[in-house]
Amino acid sequence: MDAATDVDLKGLEEDLRRAIVDAPNLAALDEVRVTALGKKGRISGLMRSLGAMAPDERKSFGQAVNGLKQRVGEALEVRKAGLTAAALAERLAFEQADITLPVRPGPIAGGRIHPVSQVWDELTEIFADMGFSVAEGPDIETDDNNFNKLNIPPEHPARQEMDTFYLKPKPDGSRMVLRTHTSPVQIRTMEAEDPPIRIIAPGRVYRSDWDQTHTPMFHQVEGLVIDTETHLGHLKWCLEEFCKAFFEVDEVRMRFRASHFPFTEPSMEVDIGAEAIGKPGEWLEILGCGMVHPKVLANVGYDPARYQGFAFGMGIDRIAMLKYALPDCRDLFASDLRWLRHYGFAVLDVPTLAGGLSS
Ligand code: PHE
Repeated sequence: MDAATDVDLKGLEEDLRRAIVDAPNLAALDEVRVTALGKKGRISGLMRSLGAMAPDERKSFGQAVNGLKQRVGEALEVRKAGLTAAALAERLAFEQADITLPVRPGPIAGGRIHPVSQVWDELTEIFADMGFSVAEGPDIETDDNNFNKLNIPPEHPARQEMDTFYLKPKPDGSRMVLRTHTSPVQIRTMEAEDPPIRIIAPGRVYRSDWDQTHTPMFHQVEGLVIDTETHLGHLKWCLEEFCKAFFEVDEVRMRFRASHFPFTEPSMEVDIGAEAIGKPGEWLEILGCGMVHPKVLANVGYDPARYQGFAFGMGIDRIAMLKYALPDCRDLFASDLRWLRHYGFAVLDVPTLAGGLSS
C-alpha cells in the first residue's frame, strides 16, 4: 500500500471537526479552513497525492478524500453561520440605545443668549404678531437723516442734548454721525416706500454718555405707522398691547405725559405702573412717542394733508433691565461670562407668543 493511503482519514476528520467546533470566532475558524482546505492544507495535500497512485487505488482513495473534503466544508459552513449569528447578536445587545431618553445636551447647551438679544427677539415677536415688519438702517448715518429731516436743524438744542459722536468731516465739510437714535430709519423707510407703513426698527445707537443708566452704545427700537387715518388712539392701544405681552401680565397701567420731540406733534413720554414688574407704587419711563410731525412727512415727500401716523422709540436695554431685574446697564456690555451665565437665556428656548416669551 502506498504511503498516502495509510493516512488515517477518520482521525483527520475528527481532528478537523473538533478544531471547527472549538473555533471561538470567525478569524480562528478561517485559520482552521486554511489548515484543511487551503493551498497547503492537509486535505489539499491528499488530493495532490492522488496523481501518483495506481488507477484502482486512486478511485477508492479519491472518493474517500472527496467525501472528507465535502463534509469538512459543510462543517465549516455550519460553524461559520453559527459564529456570524452570535457576533451579530452580541453587537445588537451592545449597541442597544434607548431612544426614549431625552436628548443629551451637547456643548451648545452651555451657551447663553444675552438678555438684550433675548428682549430683541421677544419684542420682534410681539410686533410681528401685530403686523409690523422689521426695517434696518446703518449705524453710521448722515447728519441729514439723523437730524435735519427729522426736523432737528443745526442750531437745535436737541443736537447738544444727544451728545453726538461725529466722524471726521468729508472734503465738502459734511460730517457723518454715529446715529443717536433709531429715528433716521423712519426717514429711510418713508423715502423708500409709499404708505401704508407699519415697521419696527431695532438697532444700536450711540451717545457720549457713561454712568449707571447710560452706556455710549445702547439699543433702541423705533416704531412707525403711516396711513391716512391712524390716530393717537391707535398709538395708545398698540403700546398697551405691547406692554401686556412683553411684561407677560393681563393688565398694565400706563401714563402718557406731554413732552417734546422735534419730529412728533403732539409728543409724549410713556410710563408704566411698576406693579407690572412686581414693584407697586412706582412709575417707570419706558419710551417716547407721538404723531409724526407734518414737516417730517413733507421732508420725505409725503403729502401731510393726506397722510398721518405715529412713531415711538423705546430703549431695549432699559426694558430688558426692567423685565429681568438687571441692576446696572454697564453690566450688559462688560462681557463677564459669570454675569451672562446668571442672567442669560438657554439657547434652545426661542421666544414665541405661543410657547411663551421668557419661559
Ligand atoms: N428718537 C427719540 C429718542 O431717542 C425717541 C422717539 C422716537 C420719540 C419716535 C418720539 C418718536 O429719544
